[in-house]
Amino acid sequence: MSNIFNVGIRGGSAAYNSYLIENDGVCKAIVGCVPESAADEYIDNIKSITKRNKPDYLILPNTQTCYAGTVARMIETYPEIKIAATTAGLRNLKEITNLKFNEYLVKDGGTLDLGGALLKFMIVPNLPWQDSMFAYFASQKTLFTGNAFSSEGCDYARGAGEYYEKFLSPFSDYVRNALNRIKDLEVDIIYPSRGVVSDVKSALESYAKWSKEKAEGIKTAAVVYASTDGCTRRLAEVIAEAFTNRGIKTEVFDVSEGTERAIEAVKSADALAFGSPTVNKNALKPVWDVIASINPVLKKGTPCLVFGAYGWSGEALNLLQTHLSAIKMRMPIKPISCCFRPSDEEIKNAKERAAEFTAEVLC
Ligand SMILES: Cc1cc2nc3c(=O)[nH]c(=O)nc-3n(C[C@H](O)[C@H](O)[C@H](O)COP(=O)(O)O)c2cc1C
Repeated sequence: MSNIFNVGIRGGSAAYNSYLIENDGVCKAIVGCVPESAADEYIDNIKSITKRNKPDYLILPNTQTCYAGTVARMIETYPEIKIAATTAGLRNLKEITNLKFNEYLVKDGGTLDLGGALLKFMIVPNLPWQDSMFAYFASQKTLFTGNAFSSEGCDYARGAGEYYEKFLSPFSDYVRNALNRIKDLEVDIIYPSRGVVSDVKSALESYAKWSKEKAEGIKTAAVVYASTDGCTRRLAEVIAEAFTNRGIKTEVFDVSEGTERAIEAVKSADALAFGSPTVNKNALKPVWDVIASINPVLKKGTPCLVFGAYGWSGEALNLLQTHLSAIKMRMPIKPISCCFRPSDEEIKNAKERAAEFTAEVLC
């Protein structure tokens, strides 16, 4: 007979869950952790249940930097405890705690026998921590999900939506992967690291809805530029026109007037174009600001082109091209450039090169 107790900490938006699994009256494992500031309360909560024995495992569905001190206290209190996490989780934890500890490596599809109670693990990365995994407790039809399905505050319906938007929305592909992994499991209870999932069916439906793929078919592009005298702007117009002519829904952003809208558009665009004049051997700061907002994990392989006007040395083009390549954007063509104001020849060249680029977007 298995029991699960929440030994986490209460306190509205500061609350954290951590679950103690007891089998036949014997404490076996703790799933999840709490921030260092609550370590005393947490260990008292564990001790109030584990009067007769010590937990064998601390299982972490994902690591978090704020767990460091608490994990250290757990090791100090229970020196024999094994910390169970994925390869990435164990590596992160070593760097976060700077401690040596007994490890239990969680493998995808692996199981852990807690004296008759069996936990099954699924590695579901980037939810939103890279090392995320789920643990399924089949006999209890219970799924431990770490940060996934979490919420802050008391109202789950609202809190879960806000949490998803804040932390998980950039990782919708990975959420869909995770939902796919659990679709055939019987799940009556979801235990996340934060908040209470009161209705499993509606939580799963909400995650399916929020993570839904964009409608297939129409491709989108964001052309993001800054320009001091209008030369780079002219290239932006020509490039945007070439995209639109090929049926790509294109938005153009002059980021000298603000970067917020461009940052939002870049998140969902299928293709990107970044333009800047060379000023003092560099690209302009607002363009860099938008590029710095790119999530390379999610945008990896996105077709991207660089353009801009220059006067004599043109460093901005190479700097942008090199950086975007380094963060794994796909750069199928060389930068499109013009010397000062674009000539008819340079405009013609820009049109042709942009059209060439669209073939990579539409393929
Ligand atoms: C303050 C200043 C610094 C510049 N620095 C460079 C430079 O380092 N290298 C270069 O090739 N061009 C440089 N230029 C020339 C610009 O790149 C050129 O005027 C370009 O056409 C400006 O494009 P825009 O109209 O899109 O701003 C500089 C221009 C200004 C005004």
